[in-house]
Amino acid sequence: MSNVRSDGQRKRVFIRTYGCQMNVYDSDRMADVLRPLGYALAAGPADADLVMLNTCHIRERASEKVYSELGRLRDDKAERRAVGRDLTIVVAGCVAQAEGEEIIKRQPAVDIVVGPQAYHRLPQLLAEAERKAAIRRAGKRLPGAGVLDTEFPAESKFDHLPAPQGVRAGSAFLSIQEGCDKFCTFCVVPYTRGAEYSRPVSAVLAEARQLVQAGAIEITLLGQNVNAYHGEAPASSLDGSTWSLGRLIRAIAEIEGVARIRYTTSHPRDMDDELIAAHGNVPQLMPYLHLPVQSGSDRILEAMNRGHGRDHFRRIVDRLRGVRPDLALSTDFIVGFPGESDADFDDTMRLVSEVGFASAFSFKYSRRPGTPGWAMPGQVAETVKAARLAALQALLGEQARDFNMSKVGTSVPVLFAEPGRKPGQVVGKTPWLQSVYADGPARLIGRIVDTRLTEGHANSLAGEVVGRDYEVAA
Ligand code: 5AD
Ligand code: SF4
Repeated sequence: MSNVRSDGQRKRVFIRTYGCQMNVYDSDRMADVLRPLGYALAAGPADADLVMLNTCHIRERASEKVYSELGRLRDDKAERRAVGRDLTIVVAGCVAQAEGEEIIKRQPAVDIVVGPQAYHRLPQLLAEAERKAAIRRAGKRLPGAGVLDTEFPAESKFDHLPAPQGVRAGSAFLSIQEGCDKFCTFCVVPYTRGAEYSRPVSAVLAEARQLVQAGAIEITLLGQNVNAYHGEAPASSLDGSTWSLGRLIRAIAEIEGVARIRYTTSHPRDMDDELIAAHGNVPQLMPYLHLPVQSGSDRILEAMNRGHGRDHFRRIVDRLRGVRPDLALSTDFIVGFPGESDADFDDTMRLVSEVGFASAFSFKYSRRPGTPGWAMPGQVAETVKAARLAALQALLGEQARDFNMSKVGTSVPVLFAEPGRKPGQVVGKTPWLQSVYADGPARLIGRIVDTRLTEGHANSLAGEVVGRDYEVAA
């Protein structure tokens, strides 16, 4: 397969990522797979020869966005073909896994549909797509246009993906776990990402060391159910045959150069003693935890098959705050799950008031085909969902602003990540994952610098860089 265009330029790939951080990680890995094939990164779809949509299936709107983007790409492809060029369209991610062949039926311009477990096979899939394109160019008919790979291969993709290449601005994602066995009744993840799988400890530690060498000072451990992690222990381990997430975090903290550790996303049922203890005794583990609760009503939590009630959640929060009093808690809520009454929703509002969240994501329940929630009685009207979401978001927004305000006037270490919107501005993250805007040179990006927080807003803070690093080098 040719990796140069007819004008002699290298071919370019543009990857559009939807959804969660697992997809961000996967998109980077796909770029790593394509690089040895000669693909450079394109700035946008217009100057790409290969466009990949790394999709999300979690809510209905997420998948609809993919189909409208595919409609636009089909038009681009037709325009290019009219002038003798081509555009290869790949759909990856959870929509690919869930809908498979349906995508090619609905949008025949799609060349490849590849599920999240098969990314290491992209080179073969591209070769196959190119072969089919050549047959078509020769004017022959072809039964079955697109190339499909949504298998869950026996081998782990992690054993076949290349080592991660670049680290952006000191911060890196490291995927340690995939899939989920919890089967919450609203959720497609157990179907799209498959059964729970933990990477072996030695593979995770090797990747963490590579990331540090490539410039990472912050590592965020990723998994759909990251704290269910139970990876095979290293041969030399005296700590049992598998390690929990808490044990793994202690080992990552021992790698020279790791200044910050985070992990996401967790389930309340898997917050074990070792992990809670790590929040108290691993200084690099940041004082922030995203712990989705989904609802404050025991009845709804039961119907969601969450395996925990509101008291269990509150006890975990108390224990975490016992070892780490400044912990910033974040969570997810779903409003309007089937059967949710006004009283159930009040329980959710009360839980928010009692716990206090520094940040939160909240969604209207979206009925997903194939999940038990789809067929449940008592589906809630859209207008009711909308009113509940507005009330919940108002309360959560107030709490987020209060949390941000509570840090104003203090100096905190900020890891600067990117230029700000205004010239001469940089944006970074506090230990509690708030965004901070400050005036400062671009060379602060990728570094942790003490910053005095001067103003608090709903979604961010303003600050002044006060770190010695800045004064010396400016
Ligand atoms: N409807 C609405 N929100 C959902 N989530 C997952 N599935 C659904 C659904 N069917 C939310 C949950 C989860 C987050 C990633 O997305 O709150 O924690
Ligand atoms: Fe989905 Fe529940 Fe698994 Fe989270 S724990 S990925 S919400 S099934």
